Amino acid sequence: MKRILLLLMVMIPILTIHAQAPMAGGEWKDNTGRHINAHGGCIINYKGTYCWYGENRSSGNTLYSSKGVSCYTSKDLQNWTNKGVVLPVSNDTCSDIQEGCIIERPKVVYNKKTKEFVMWFHLELRGMGYKSARAGVAVSDTPLGPFRFVRSGRINAGILPKDFIEADTTELRQRLSEPAFNTWWTSPWYRQIERGMFMVRDLQGGQMARDMTIFIDDDGKAYHIYASEDNLTLHIAELTDDYLRHTGLYVRVAMGEQNEAPTIFKKDGVYWMITSGCTGWAPNAARLFRAKNIMGPWERLSNPCRGDGANKTFGAQGAYIFKIRKTKEKKMFDGADYVFMADMWRPKKITDSRYLWIPIRFEDGKPTLRANLLNTYQSSKSN
Ligand code: DGJ
Repeated sequence: MKRILLLLMVMIPILTIHAQAPMAGGEWKDNTGRHINAHGGCIINYKGTYCWYGENRSSGNTLYSSKGVSCYTSKDLQNWTNKGVVLPVSNDTCSDIQEGCIIERPKVVYNKKTKEFVMWFHLELRGMGYKSARAGVAVSDTPLGPFRFVRSGRINAGILPKDFIEADTTELRQRLSEPAFNTWWTSPWYRQIERGMFMVRDLQGGQMARDMTIFIDDDGKAYHIYASEDNLTLHIAELTDDYLRHTGLYVRVAMGEQNEAPTIFKKDGVYWMITSGCTGWAPNAARLFRAKNIMGPWERLSNPCRGDGANKTFGAQGAYIFKIRKTKEKKMFDGADYVFMADMWRPKKITDSRYLWIPIRFEDGKPTLRANLLNTYQSSKSN
């Protein structure tokens, strides 16, 4: 009898961990019963296994608490197995990713030609706050790593965006030193920002790259989309065939409009991008863009969110959009083909930030995120 009681005492907590149905904003537990630590992440499907990569933040309540990039795997998008840190920060004080750096928004893609998994991420060097604004890249032969850090840096140094007129560069350079254009947020300043004053400022050293995502088009070409020019303007930059470098072809999008957290998908030949505004860790209204060509022009539409909390993206900020292929899994998302992965940030303890996965519905031909579908995925976990 004593033995049975003892066994029950050990088993009950284990069983309840898996029976729990976490709600939007609740804790999402992995196979060990711990809250999933994969923020600002992405999901790929490799040979029938979903791999969820994201920021691994230590439990200290500091923003400089990156431990690297975590990976969790799942066969059903519901039960997640912790595969550990697949790109750890380094002990080497000469490394760009030495402990104390900030690694954000990692995105992993598989390159069919090189058969390598390529990870891009936003990197801030140790001790520099958010001033470095670099992109980092790492590679691995397997989805579970360990990923090998390749390099980090700013983007496309010395290269002008597509369709930019050389003569404008000289003029904008002059504007940079004129006091009339040095006061932020004034109309004359905005005008010069739209024209590319900060792009020209950063031309020599390379363009700033913060919040980011990677998109692979139907023809296998990869694009790096990142918040640049002091988070004022997005850039979309083409990557080389091995996905490890930039080709030099890039465009500026939504000039001076302060977009962060870019997420993107393509449906029936149309590119859709959902971004956030720029309010630090606090949620704001999402923005929707549409284009027929990834290099633009991009058209800005209205907020894709509907219902309670729509003006704050339901308390979350986008991280990635992934496609669902199987009918069984589509059922978890109200039959949707695409899911908007978002983070509900808790800046006082980033590791404890929560997740929100929202099905993308098409209404009036446009992607829509509805408040009444916020718990579709979570409630299906209990079924
Ligand atoms: C908002 C970004 O989207 C996050 O990834 C992070 O960089 C915070 N800003 C930092 O304030």
